[in-house]
Amino acid sequence: MVQLVHTIKAVRDAVADARRRGLKAGLVPTMGALHDGHGSLIEAARRECGYVVVSIFVNPLQFGPTEDYDRYPRTLERDVAYCGEKGADLVFAPEVREMYPSPSLTFVSVEKITDTLCGASRPGHFRGVATVVSKLFNIVLPDVAYFGQKDAQQAAVIKRMVSDLNFPLTVAVVPTFREPDGLAMSSRNRYLSKEDRQAALVLYRSLQGAMSLLEHGERRPDVIRSYLRSTIEAEPRARLDYADVVDPETMQPVTEIEGDVLLVVAAYFGEARLIDNMLFSLPVR
Ligand code: PAJ
Repeated sequence: MVQLVHTIKAVRDAVADARRRGLKAGLVPTMGALHDGHGSLIEAARRECGYVVVSIFVNPLQFGPTEDYDRYPRTLERDVAYCGEKGADLVFAPEVREMYPSPSLTFVSVEKITDTLCGASRPGHFRGVATVVSKLFNIVLPDVAYFGQKDAQQAAVIKRMVSDLNFPLTVAVVPTFREPDGLAMSSRNRYLSKEDRQAALVLYRSLQGAMSLLEHGERRPDVIRSYLRSTIEAEPRARLDYADVVDPETMQPVTEIEGDVLLVVAAYFGEARLIDNMLFSLPVR
C-alpha cells in the first residue's frame, strides 16, 4: 500500500526507517498530474530501489509571473492511486507553506547550461527547479533520483548541480515516453484542443526528419536547424520558440556534428508550450 504524507518530518522518518531495513531509496520528483511518462520513472525506480518515494509539488519558484502556476492541473487523489498502481511506497505532497514557510533567501543557480533554450525563454525557471530539487534531495536523502530525458536541459542542470555541489546520490535519466503517435507525454498536453493536439505532432515529425537527415550523412548543423525550424513553421497552429542542435551536456549550440548532439525543439500551440528532443550519436567506425 502506498502511503501519503504531507510533512518533511514524516517523509524523513519513513525514509530513515526504510534505510534501517537496508533498503535503497529512490526519489521521483514530480509536479503531479501524473501520466505514463512519470510512470516510466516510477517503474525504473521500482526496478532499482527497495524503497520508492514520489514527490508531488507544484513549485511556485519555477514559474514565471505570466506562466501557468495557477491553472497547472492538480489531481492529487488520482495521482496517489496511480503511484500505488506503479508500486511506489511513499508519496510526499507538501503544501507550499511546508516547503517555503518564509520567502527563500537562498537559491541554487546553475550557470551557463541555463543561458540557452528553455533557460532563455523562461528567466528564473531553472533557478527555481535547482532550488526545489536541492531541497527535495536534502529532505528525502535518496540514493538515486530519477529524471526524464523529455526535459533534457533540466536533466543536464540537475546532473551538473549534483556534481558541482557533491550531493551524495546518483542521477538516473529515463528515456522519453511517447503517445502511440509519437507525441511526448506531458502534463501540459491536457491544455491542447483537439486541433492543437494533432498539430503538436509536428514536433516529433521535425525531430524524426532531422534524425533521418543525420542518419543519411548530413553533417551541417545549420542545415539541421533550418530543417527543424521550417518544418515547425509550416504548421500554422504552431508558434516556434526554438529549434536547435546543441551539446547534450552544456546545452550550447554546436558548430560541428561530432560525438553526441541533441536536437531540441519548443513551440506554443494555443496557450500550451511544448518541448521535445532527440539524441543523435555519431556511429563509431
Ligand atoms: P514534471 O513536469 O511533473 O516532471 C517530472 C519528471 O517526469 C521530470 O523528470 C520529467 O522529465 C519527467 N517526464 C515528464 N514527461 C515525461 C515523458 N514523456 N517521458 C519521460 N519522462 C517524463 O519536471 C518537473 O516536473 C519539475 O521541474 C520538477 C523536477 C519536479 C521540479 O519541480
